[in-house]
Amino acid sequence: MLKDFSAVMPTYNRFPITLTKGDGSYVWDQDGVKFLDYTAGIGTCNLGHRPKSVEIALARQLGELWHCSNLYTIPNQELLAEQLVKHSVFDQVFFSNSGAEANEAAIKLARRYAQKVKQTDQYEIVTFKQSFHGRTLATLAATGQAKIQAGFEPKMPGFRYLPYNDLAALEQLVRPETCAVMLELIQGEGGVHPADQVWLDQLVSLCKTNDLLLIIDEVQTGMGRTGTLFAYQQYGIEPDVITLAKGLGSGFPVGAVLAKKEVARAFTAGAHGSTFGGNPLATAAGLATIEQMTSAEFLPMVKENSDYLWGKLQTLCGQMNQVKGLRGKGYLIGIELEGQAIDYVNRAREEQQLLILVAGPQVVRLLPPLTTTKQEIAQFIIRLEKVLAD
Ligand SMILES: Cc1ncc(COP(=O)(O)O)c(C=O)c1O
Repeated sequence: MLKDFSAVMPTYNRFPITLTKGDGSYVWDQDGVKFLDYTAGIGTCNLGHRPKSVEIALARQLGELWHCSNLYTIPNQELLAEQLVKHSVFDQVFFSNSGAEANEAAIKLARRYAQKVKQTDQYEIVTFKQSFHGRTLATLAATGQAKIQAGFEPKMPGFRYLPYNDLAALEQLVRPETCAVMLELIQGEGGVHPADQVWLDQLVSLCKTNDLLLIIDEVQTGMGRTGTLFAYQQYGIEPDVITLAKGLGSGFPVGAVLAKKEVARAFTAGAHGSTFGGNPLATAAGLATIEQMTSAEFLPMVKENSDYLWGKLQTLCGQMNQVKGLRGKGYLIGIELEGQAIDYVNRAREEQQLLILVAGPQVVRLLPPLTTTKQEIAQFIIRLEKVLAD
């Protein structure tokens, strides 16, 4: 739907196609052109488009109760929280509607824990350069990128940014006012940069010694995206808090904060809330999603197929001079290129009916559905080879 003037505010540079249908790893535009979708709604449709089990759960819930406020117990919310707790190291969950709201809640939880439970006046949260934590006033202040913050001054105080993966800079981590550290284990929007294990271990140990909360933003890395249900499980660490959104509802908006019980107790009645957070439909989608992802065969299948994709990508990228690097884990992949990433993204869409993303000016980002098959991966590689070869 390309119009000269849109009644929608122009906060996005939109691509010149309009998608009207999705099924598994494919989407169709309004002219019926079929695209292989390796963006998955920016890492959201982790079970592919319109996964059957989620569709059934939503349809069932649509026939019962769409919404009721959080003044009443919501059975799906209880069940989804139980599943999230069962498959993680956390004890309790707060539900939001988006990633930014989950991070906003985690920021509030960290301050409240410091002030009401620890009885200190600590408030500062250390985050990292090139991070991305959202677009609300608190989460854009947490985000270590000046371009996201420009024009929204005064910036909310209480955040300090250190360089990511920089061991020496960890010396500056702790100040008397610091209460928490918040980071992505793979910086997604910032160019697909995975955390270095040695650096992370040092960071975690400093958090423990100095009684700082460790908050991991798993909005993009969570829900199977990196090959385990949560990315922290691959790093052998135990955060105090993680945040989720994107893949949690398979495309239905829902976010969550998962916390250890000693931290969660800072959120007493009235401390935080959300009208829609964890409503019956959102948590029906979340419950069906996590049930599929925690079935015995799902994550082993993701591992096998993503290993297959990595093998093919390593071979292809090794042959292409314009490829400067290949980074990521599981199905969160960045290809660093000579030249502008957007040119490759446009060529992929226009000439190969392949949807891929950028993550910074020179990085192409791949976020396929976790359900993508080996046949689709083989198709993808053929199309990508043509895009890179042109
Ligand atoms: C790591 C991370 N945190 C937070 C967000 C914000 O999530 P939302 O757009 O749902 O507010 C994103 C979105 O891309 C993200 O990648």
